[in-house]
Amino acid sequence: MSLFTSPFDPAREAALVTGAGNGIGRAIAQALVGEGVRTVFADLHEDRVLAAIKAAPRPELALPWVGDLAQRKACDALLAHAQASLGQVTHFVHSASPPRREADHAMAVDDETWRQMHAVNLDAGFHLSRELARRLIAAKTPGSFLLLTSLHAGTPRNLPHYSTAKAGMAMLVKELAKSWGRHGIRVNALVPGAIAAGGFVADPALAKHIPLGRLGQAEDLAPLAVAVLSHKISGYVTGASIVVDGGLSLTNWFAPPELD
Ligand SMILES: NC(=O)c1ccc[n+]([C@@H]2O[C@H](COP(=O)([O-])OP(=O)(O)OC[C@H]3O[C@@H](n4cnc5c(N)ncnc54)[C@H](O)[C@@H]3O)[C@@H](O)[C@H]2O)c1
Repeated sequence: MSLFTSPFDPAREAALVTGAGNGIGRAIAQALVGEGVRTVFADLHEDRVLAAIKAAPRPELALPWVGDLAQRKACDALLAHAQASLGQVTHFVHSASPPRREADHAMAVDDETWRQMHAVNLDAGFHLSRELARRLIAAKTPGSFLLLTSLHAGTPRNLPHYSTAKAGMAMLVKELAKSWGRHGIRVNALVPGAIAAGGFVADPALAKHIPLGRLGQAEDLAPLAVAVLSHKISGYVTGASIVVDGGLSLTNWFAPPELD
């Protein structure tokens, strides 16, 4: 039998994806419904969610949710909505993040921008993960969670609110993977490189620093996200940071060697 057919069990498994209105979250949510998984598409912007669902391979499996995940009440409303419409959520992807603006460097970023970045990425990521895990542990059901971190969890980005939020998420993945492994809940990080997806304005000149020679697309992330989420494919993978960056993280101050 093929290893890669039916990566999920749609009768028992259902997913919640944040940031599903755009970019990487949208590509992953669309890939999940394409694999037959009922999925809540959660985002701040209704028009984006509806467009993402309309363009999904099996829109009848997608459920919209609109709200601001910087607010604890909205996170709880999302959990209630997901449970009411899907039953047990077994797969969780946290891709929502406020936009990154180059002007928000260390001397300029204001308190509200700092707070929002941490609230959506780290606080909502922790709260949603923990509440979903509580339900899974009580039901003795396995789960698989994927948090979108960044290469800038480990290297500065000139956006301290962003890099510190991502660094916190990178450690959160390890904490949760260690805490919940015995309960069959796997928690991993997906680490994109420079993806022309919407969250930042991609400078095409960056391509010369990328060994594979181009910026990434959101669709470059979705296949590996599906693979890591699937217990069938990645049942022994937890606490891992999976880098999808075309080799960008190999870049340093030295130009690559001239080969002839
Ligand atoms: N694009 C990249 O190059 C890149 C690189 C490294 C990491 N990442 C990470 O991957 C994830 C997705 O990135 P992207 O470029 O696809 O982002 P994006 O901006 O294209 O999409 C993010 C989505 O999150 C939603 N969102 C923002 N604030 C929200 C809130 N308060 N409540 C609910 N939804 C909210 C937005 O409406 C948007 O649809 C992010 O966590 C980002 O930090 C992206």
